[in-house]
Amino acid sequence: MAKGRAQLNSGSKQETDLPKAKINKQSLKKVITLVKYLKPYRVKFFLGIFFLILTALTSLAFPRAMGNLIDAANLSKGLSNINTIAIVLLGILFFQAITTFLKVIWFVEVAERSLADLRKDTYFKLVTLPMTFFAQRRVGELNSRISADLSQIQDSITITIAELLRQIITLIGGIIALSLVSVKLTLMMLAIFPVLIGVAVVFGKYIRGIARKSQDQLAESNVIVEETLQGISNVKAFVNEAYETLRYKKSMNEVIKYALKGAKFRGAFSAFIIFCLFGSIVIVVWYGSTLVQKGDITVGELTTFILYATYVGAAMGSFADLYSQLQKTVGATERVIELLDEKNEDISLDVRQGIIDKKINGKIEFNNIQFAYPTRIEIEVLKGLSFTANIGEKVAIVGQSGAGKSTIASLLLRFYTPDSGSITFDDVNAAEYSLSDIRNQIAIVPQDVLLFGGSIRENICYGKIDASNDELITAARQANAHDFIMSFPEGYETVVGERGIKLSGGQRQRIAIARALLKNPAILILDEATSSLDSESERLVQEALQILMSGRTSIIIAHRLSTIREADQIIVIDEGIVKETGTHQELMNNESGLYRYLSQLQLQETIAE
Ligand SMILES: Nc1ncnc2c1ncn2[C@@H]1O[C@H](COP(=O)(O)OP(=O)(O)OP(=O)(O)O)[C@@H](O)[C@H]1O
Ligand SMILES: [Mg+2]
Repeated sequence: MAKGRAQLNSGSKQETDLPKAKINKQSLKKVITLVKYLKPYRVKFFLGIFFLILTALTSLAFPRAMGNLIDAANLSKGLSNINTIAIVLLGILFFQAITTFLKVIWFVEVAERSLADLRKDTYFKLVTLPMTFFAQRRVGELNSRISADLSQIQDSITITIAELLRQIITLIGGIIALSLVSVKLTLMMLAIFPVLIGVAVVFGKYIRGIARKSQDQLAESNVIVEETLQGISNVKAFVNEAYETLRYKKSMNEVIKYALKGAKFRGAFSAFIIFCLFGSIVIVVWYGSTLVQKGDITVGELTTFILYATYVGAAMGSFADLYSQLQKTVGATERVIELLDEKNEDISLDVRQGIIDKKINGKIEFNNIQFAYPTRIEIEVLKGLSFTANIGEKVAIVGQSGAGKSTIASLLLRFYTPDSGSITFDDVNAAEYSLSDIRNQIAIVPQDVLLFGGSIRENICYGKIDASNDELITAARQANAHDFIMSFPEGYETVVGERGIKLSGGQRQRIAIARALLKNPAILILDEATSSLDSESERLVQEALQILMSGRTSIIIAHRLSTIREADQIIVIDEGIVKETGTHQELMNNESGLYRYLSQLQLQETIAE
């Protein structure tokens, strides 16, 4: 893509594919709010600007001095004059070298530091946003978009702003300097250059459009590669190697089609640059030479003129690109600000894991809870659900798939707020507790346990980040995880996750149980913790769970009813409400009950197997 751009736009950055935004009063107002991130570094920022202006101005002195040097040679004013001018020239260059150095280090420092602040704020914002936010977006997309937006803003601070300022100074200063040499020649140049540069910019933009299409196409074909490699076992199992190869080949042909189209235009563009742009330089120099012949200007002045003319031409050419960069930055800024303006959950950075203000002993009550997910308001999942779990009780929740069991867990953790009704802990409304107090005192063992990339030790300690080694091992032993962990050569330091070894479902679950044990919560939620295990692993996990559940209120969500016979209370939910409650025996005694029906169904299935 970079190769397709107008050569005039040297000094500007690689094109990114961020959408552009309109630059107007409203959007600029938003951008201004980000200026607060520059504020702590304003001294360095303005010093950077100052040296930038100095650099631009001194570079304007350069063509003049060069012209003088050539004239000094031509008009034989003596060697000492030549030497003086040469020394002045070197002096200018030396000065410029220093100002450029200072400009670069200060701009980069300001950009890096202010962007790091902005990144930290954005990250904190992201992790404290409510679940609803994530439900509405594709997280991977969100992540890559934010990082692209932030990079765009960073580039703008380091490159675009500086470049824009420098080019404006060069353009204005250059034209003034040109007209000081020769007004006639300046007018001549101004008649030709802008037109040609305009054509070049439009032409370049068109070529970039084609290049982007071929890149998009290439990205699409990479998606094929990625998908098939990720699901390689599926590809093989269905003998679809040939099919996928054909799909890839088709996609490749499209890439080539666009690339070849782009090549034609790129060739034409190069031809245009060579003939027209350099041709116009020839015309200006030709006209300048006639002026030299007539004695209007000297050879040195013509040299000065040509040098200034290249400065001005380059400045003109760069504006189109700089403007589009600015548009992208405005767009990026708007999106970042939009995110920063989102309302986050009531969690502050000062609150740490395990620090509890208001203790919960473990009584839970749902009173007439009605709830629909904010992303699907039309479907009411819970329609007036009520139940009570007393301190230390094991309460099982059963119901068909989609009945709303996991939803109850999410509501307990306050991932979502009920639309009506109330949840109480120890007879106190959940709203009276801070989010961190609630979450610090509830542990959940989910059905599919997600392990972070890192060691087993880190993964277990996620439940209590400052746990000691003894605590860690005790928890792992109680979770029946110690033995299998020690069977790995690296024991607790074994790396799991994407780059590490893969643990089986049952092993992951026992890690999650150890994690929950370390947390030592008042309330425990087990969401189908044993559903995908064989009998032996299930026995190990069950044993671990018995230890985990003792002395706390446990909410057990289970499909397999055989695992919850011992529960103090079984709650059967259906159609958003509690249909039946009681112990296993009580529910089985109800001849027409849903629980008895489901139980018998499962029993038959087990026998049939
Ligand atoms: N994040 C969500 N956004 C919107 N709707 C959801 C969300 N999570 C669940 N639902 C819907 O809410 C209903 C209840 O889902 P829930 O996950 O609580 O069921 P469940 O009883 O746990 O089912 P299962 O036994 O299959 O795990 C379902 O209709 C589901 O489609
Ligand atoms: Mg569920």
